[in-house]
Amino acid sequence: MIDVILGLQWGDEGKGKIADYLTPKYDLVARFQGGPNAGHSLEFEGKKFVLNTIPSGIFRENTQNLIGNGVVIDPVRLRDEISRIKSECPDYAKRLFVSKKAHLILPTHRILDAASESSKGKDKIGSTLRGIGPTYRDKIGRSGLRVGDILEEDFKTRYQNIVDAHLKQIEFLGYTDFELLAEENLFFEAIEFMKTLTLVNSEYMVHDAITAGKKILAEGAQGSMLDVEFGTYPFVTSSNTLSGGVCTGLGVAPKHIRKVYGIFKAYCTRVGSGPFPTELDNDLGEFLRKKGNEYGATTGRERRTGWLDLVALKYTCMLNGVDDLIMMKGDVLNGMESLKVGTAYNLKGEISQQVPANLCSTPVDPIYDTFGGWGENLDLNSGYDAMDDNFKNYVQFIENYIGSKISVISMGPGREETLVRG
Ligand code: GDP
Ligand code: IMO
Ligand code: MG
Repeated sequence: MIDVILGLQWGDEGKGKIADYLTPKYDLVARFQGGPNAGHSLEFEGKKFVLNTIPSGIFRENTQNLIGNGVVIDPVRLRDEISRIKSECPDYAKRLFVSKKAHLILPTHRILDAASESSKGKDKIGSTLRGIGPTYRDKIGRSGLRVGDILEEDFKTRYQNIVDAHLKQIEFLGYTDFELLAEENLFFEAIEFMKTLTLVNSEYMVHDAITAGKKILAEGAQGSMLDVEFGTYPFVTSSNTLSGGVCTGLGVAPKHIRKVYGIFKAYCTRVGSGPFPTELDNDLGEFLRKKGNEYGATTGRERRTGWLDLVALKYTCMLNGVDDLIMMKGDVLNGMESLKVGTAYNLKGEISQQVPANLCSTPVDPIYDTFGGWGENLDLNSGYDAMDDNFKNYVQFIENYIGSKISVISMGPGREETLVRG
């Protein structure tokens, strides 16, 4: 059976921490979409790691890790990532598997990403510039290269044909700020490195694991409001970030999915452009950014911050079929006198609890409920029941609004700063 953990907001909810925390219960952790646009942070034993493409089970010695077919892989970044974690998990090669059907991010995909963003000017998506959009575009357009292709004799010819087509597109966009040759050298070195990894028919690997009664954790990347289908289009990523993406991104039938854990921050953040109804574009937002250390895990970009948006959260719980909620970064709200939560949208006088079809062109005025704050020091060790009443009130309000239990509360980046409710 497969359990899923995924982000319910605009990414960076803390998926890495929770995936790592939950991993001892699982035999296999699998990424099913996205690519190195993700930055998943894990902290333990005083060390901090940021994973981009590798699943967050890599630091647990009894767990296998699969980069599934739905992921897009930049060989250069994957090689760098492995060199960053190698000292912590010298046996990584035995526990890391890569789908032969995962698509490859080529150097020109990254250049096209930059070219496309610069041609959009002020309307740019705020992409991570990792080549994600152009790679998925080629996948859907049936002209991409896949991991398995690196073992074929005509790989270089096929590579060159695609690059020639990309160069025409880049020229059309008038973009010249790149140095392809150096990037290609790195790319082909990394391709040789990839040949040393265990490349698999991952759909069979997952199927065999299910048949053998193994437990699988599918680790989402990005967040549900960045889903290409239901997110704040066009300010989204190019993959299906929802639980439905697990089926196509790993090659499994829906009936094998058992539980969906939805992760959210106790407030909201977003990085890049696009609508964010409960954004705090003021001193309070800056305070949350500093206190929550809201800067991109890999890009270092400032994250926009705001109050928790329950309208959007309920929407993404509905889309994913969330069973249990996991609330992150409650500690960042410690010590605030009062806090707010968005509970409805005022859409030009009409009060709604639904996310409008086009959030980008619909002016939204959120309606808030206000809550009393709690102290600076919340004691996790005495258990949930002994916690400050105002904190419990905040948690219960969210549970009642969404209709799901918050089963795990995270109050710090480390493994031990986690409260599991019975
Ligand atoms: P992901 O992309 O969903 O894995 O999240 P990121 O790693 O991009 O961002 C989450 C950030 O919050 C990381 O720096 C984590 O170390 C940190 N973090 C995770 N959980 C908590 C928490 O409960 N409290 C605090 N203060 N930080 C947390
Ligand atoms: P994790 O897995 C936060 C955002 C980008 C941009 C939009 C499109 O760490 O939560 P892309 O590079 O995918 O074309 O960018 O999506 N974005 C993320 N924001 N966390 C992420 O991943 C993100 N991955 C992409 O900032 O707005
Ligand atoms: Mg992140």
